[in-house]
Amino acid sequence: MATQVALSFSPSPHAAGVSPMARMWRAAPWWAYPATVVIVLSCFSGYAIWTAFFSGGINQSGPYLSPFYSPLFWSTGPVSPALWVLWSPLLFRATCYYYRKAYYRSFFWDPPSCAVGELRHRAYRGETQFPLFLNNMHRVFLYAVLIVTGFLWYDVFLAFFQPGTGRVQLGIGTGIMLLNVVLLSAYTFGCHSLRHLVGGGLDCYAESSIRQARYRAWSWVSILNGRHAMWAWLSMFSVVLTDVYIHFLHAGIFTDPHITF
Ligand code: FES
Repeated sequence: MATQVALSFSPSPHAAGVSPMARMWRAAPWWAYPATVVIVLSCFSGYAIWTAFFSGGINQSGPYLSPFYSPLFWSTGPVSPALWVLWSPLLFRATCYYYRKAYYRSFFWDPPSCAVGELRHRAYRGETQFPLFLNNMHRVFLYAVLIVTGFLWYDVFLAFFQPGTGRVQLGIGTGIMLLNVVLLSAYTFGCHSLRHLVGGGLDCYAESSIRQARYRAWSWVSILNGRHAMWAWLSMFSVVLTDVYIHFLHAGIFTDPHITF
């Protein structure tokens, strides 16, 4: 019996639930993950600043609006309209529990990895002082991003159906915009704060139909939450892909292949 217990709990790199990506990181040197995070997040931050403030105006082409500019409340004025939008998704990501782990390890080296000891030995203050206590506002940014996500779905609707024309458009652009909002929704609706919001604070789910509904909602959020890191990265890449594609259309580098009904 003792042998059986030992075998059933022996760690295996091929154990069920360990993704190929996780196995790859485990096999890599400890610095590979933080170095990759630093490079990717730095490139994304630089790109976001460029497209929002230095790319020459609103990134829009025909029925396609860049996610960096949606919702487009103000289209004129000296300040880029992206400013009124970007704060919520950027702060949402900056305070995300997964991204915190990633950038604490990668940028602050505090510590750089699980099996690497602390490089600095200070009293641990947690997230009780400025600026890290701002991370506790993650749920507030979640509310804002839920609204933005609704507008992004509306943008996809406009791209497909183009109200007023009576036509439906299917194209590479509509496909990219749909993919982007699906990935962003998978990231947003797998949020740890949302999971607690819909299913937390209860001792028993069976006492009423509302509690049972909350349990079902919690179960759905939990499915997405199990791959939260994956959705975090994929949605970040899809935002850039969508923006780049619309920049190319806007600049006339190519036209969007599409059919209309
Ligand atoms: S914990 Fe990652 S988005 Fe909320």
